[in-house]
Amino acid sequence: MERTFKTFLVTGGAGFIGSNFIRYMLSAYPECKVINFDALTYAGNLENLKEVEADPNYRFVKGDICDRVLVDSLLSGGHEVFKSLHPQSSALSPVIDCIVHFAAESHVDRSITGPEAFLKTNVMGTFNLLESAKKHWLSESSSLSPQSSLFLHVSTDEVYGSLGDEGHFTEDTPFAPNSPYSASKAGSDHLARAYHHTYGLPVVTTNCSNNYGPYQFPEKLVPLVILNALEGKPLPVYGDGLNVRDWLYVDDHCSAIDMAIRQGRLGETYNVGGWNEWKNIDIVRLICQILDETIPDSPNRPHESLITFVKDRPGHDQRYAIDASKIKEELGWTPAHTFETGIRETIKWYLENSDWCETVRSGEYRDYYKHQYGS
Ligand code: NAD
Ligand code: TYD
Repeated sequence: MERTFKTFLVTGGAGFIGSNFIRYMLSAYPECKVINFDALTYAGNLENLKEVEADPNYRFVKGDICDRVLVDSLLSGGHEVFKSLHPQSSALSPVIDCIVHFAAESHVDRSITGPEAFLKTNVMGTFNLLESAKKHWLSESSSLSPQSSLFLHVSTDEVYGSLGDEGHFTEDTPFAPNSPYSASKAGSDHLARAYHHTYGLPVVTTNCSNNYGPYQFPEKLVPLVILNALEGKPLPVYGDGLNVRDWLYVDDHCSAIDMAIRQGRLGETYNVGGWNEWKNIDIVRLICQILDETIPDSPNRPHESLITFVKDRPGHDQRYAIDASKIKEELGWTPAHTFETGIRETIKWYLENSDWCETVRSGEYRDYYKHQYGS
């Protein structure tokens, strides 16, 4: 039977996937309330949610998932946000019955130069949320139960480590994380699992492959290449460019999470991927070709001439590839977007949203870029 929830707490909702997920949910389920709980780190940006900021079913709360007092006040329904969220009727659900946990430090390169923030947010922050959910959902006085609440933990395929030329990650692949980012996400996955098995917390985990699409912070490969190419800057490809990633359009990740929320079996993990493997160098070339076609009078044509091979990432995982059969067979999920259409829509979005790009690439971004790429 399908689960339904009334009030979602989306952590990290001002980031790339979280903001796409909030738009997705508000449009798919006009009866649900969404509280976006985000610390607004360098990666979080309320510009990502301009379209929905006036929606009566949406509220933003600025805060850190490591702040236990704040998390407790939200989960107890005692926070100010509830007064404005349910102004007319006390009959509406006063409590958060579903947490969708995106908040994380998410960039592998940053985890190599500064791992501590990853441990704090990804491990301790997740622990904090799990503890608070346990306290508020499982206590005898709670109006909720494991049947009427859910903790959806959003994770990554990177916890499984690196593949050789053959094979795919399944849900049974042993964890072998290789970067501080993936190690911290693996730690959070283990905690989420343990809270289900030990305490009976209703947890479902998703492990997804690389996402691309609108609102992705331009430190990640796809938006970085699009924006650098538009500006005639070098397109940095790490090492030999032969590392392989499995790319999924962000909306398809959102629909997978939605299905896992409604139908995922408690305590289970679901791999989510696009059956869409690309070598880094090929994806960079494809973006260049689409830009050549889209902007025939660009002074930077052919954009491929901007490709520059740079020093490899330390411990760079060679290949990720997801076997997404379980979510397909159990929940009926398949991606709706082909890579051909998704990547074109993404490039179009970045071309049409230069103001957003300008805003997010201010201050801290410039310092990071200079440190990472040297110019
Ligand atoms: P992102 O970096 O774009 O967004 C992360 C968000 O979390 C930001 O809004 C940031 O402000 C917020 N945040 C960070 N620390 C916080 C804290 N301590 N308290 C509250 N908020 C905090 O990340 P993303 O790419 O949208 O990824 C979201 C989630 O999906 C992550 O858990 C990531 O591991 C997972 N994931 C990402 C991908 C991908 O390709 N991007 C793939 C699979 C899984
Ligand atoms: P990224 O978008 O950082 O995602 P992840 O490391 O989580 O997979 O990188 C995707 C791939 O692109 C990865 O193999 C590293 C590579 N890459 C480059 O070659 N150059 C770059 O400037 C960046 C940011 C990434």
